[in-house]
Amino acid sequence: GDLQNEGIDYMFKIVMIGDSGVGKSQLLNRFVRNEFHLKSKATIGVEFLTKTVLMDHKLVKAQIWDTAGQERYQAITTAYYRGATGAFLTYDITKRHSFNHIEKWLDELHNHADKNIVVMLVGNKSDLSSNREVSIEEAEEFAKQKGLFFLETSALDSHNVEPAFLGLLSQIY
Ligand code: GTP
Ligand code: MG
Repeated sequence: GDLQNEGIDYMFKIVMIGDSGVGKSQLLNRFVRNEFHLKSKATIGVEFLTKTVLMDHKLVKAQIWDTAGQERYQAITTAYYRGATGAFLTYDITKRHSFNHIEKWLDELHNHADKNIVVMLVGNKSDLSSNREVSIEEAEEFAKQKGLFFLETSALDSHNVEPAFLGLLSQIY
């Protein structure tokens, strides 16, 4: 068989979505490589990284797709969402508009993704909470109404990054 997938019990495709600059690529970089770059360039096109984790004595391989949040690069929708069982939907807690756009991203999922896709709403940049424009309470209430899981994270200081990805994977699993 495929040597790369030797011993893998489950393979899940996850998509990273949310506005440009919210930290999608750096959350992924932190989770997969335990690295963070302050001078992260805007993503162009689509890339994916994989990480294998042990859950319940099973090897679960996550294939996590990342793309540009910028509107002008968004012509990839159908292929991007195909087969995805989880979505990591991120906003920036210091940018109100990135939270206001969450509805638009949910519409996008509704139009292009499987209806059973599991969504983790993520308020990133918790290290910048002195510049906060979205309260935890408001985001929690919103997530509850929409049936989403929710955590605040920081790709910079690693806060909740593993719990957010592992939480999403365990909900799929
Ligand atoms: P696009 O690829 O354009 O869609 O953006 P993106 O969502 O991938 O954002 P990216 O990960 O490139 O991060 C944008 C900027 O925010 C970079 O300067 C990052 O270093 C910074 N950043 C990302 N996560 C955090 C965080 O948790 N805290 C802080 N302080 N900065 C962060
Ligand atoms: Mg990016």
